[in-house]
Amino acid sequence: MIYAGILAGGTGSRLNATMPKQFLKIGGTPIFIETTKKMLKSDVDVIVIGCHADYIQHAKDEIAKYLPNADKEIVVCEGGCDRLSTLVAIMDEIEKRYTVTSDDIFVTHDSVRPFVTVDMLNLSIKKAKEVGACNTVTPATDTIVISKDGDFIYSMPDRSEIFLGQCPQTFNFVKLKGLIAGLTQEQKSSLTDACKIFTFNNLPVALISGDASNFKITTMGDYDIASAMADKYLGEFND
Ligand code: CTP
Repeated sequence: MIYAGILAGGTGSRLNATMPKQFLKIGGTPIFIETTKKMLKSDVDVIVIGCHADYIQHAKDEIAKYLPNADKEIVVCEGGCDRLSTLVAIMDEIEKRYTVTSDDIFVTHDSVRPFVTVDMLNLSIKKAKEVGACNTVTPATDTIVISKDGDFIYSMPDRSEIFLGQCPQTFNFVKLKGLIAGLTQEQKSSLTDACKIFTFNNLPVALISGDASNFKITTMGDYDIASAMADKYLGEFND
């Protein structure tokens, strides 16, 4: 089985709209619904969306309204206080409902990256089956400058070795679960990225190519760009 976890438990404080950004509309459709549509077109079998408790009913209502003919099961569950906690809550929900086996795959994606492509999702699944974990990256196009104090340059690493992490991040479900169980509370609270759990343990993480269009809607400026892109990139004929 291939389980998808859509991370939709944030509050969108940097965008600061009337509701969490994943529930705002672009091109007439809520952002998290556009993301869910991509999952529906991919090799995923079941989709679980983790939301803040206050938005669970809202998410369910929007799914009923915009995806009445979805041919895969879509479950909404309560997320957690940070991104990793929402990811863990989604895994717990999956284990509560289904019998997970050692071959099963878990594709995670930010609800606020609606321009992911179906090809990216499917390639990420394929690589995670082969390697155990897969991240999506784009090569850095700007020079990376490292500063310890924000006032002076500390170092400037070779750009050819620098990539920027995106999503999807896809894992062997059982392997990821085992690694999370081994984290200390301190490690858990400092982790923003599930792939890091594999690298902590010297386990390989495959890379696939993302795209600049697969950006995370974070600020109002990003939201404006996403709204302008919606017609061209999210129509019926676009994956
Ligand atoms: N996320 C989540 N659960 C949380 C926090 C974040 O599922 N407790 C999700 C967000 O909903 C989003 C993704 O993780 O889809 C990326 O996080 P980010 O852009 O930081 O979202 P927010 O936390 O909502 O934004 P902000 O930091 O501006 O409050």
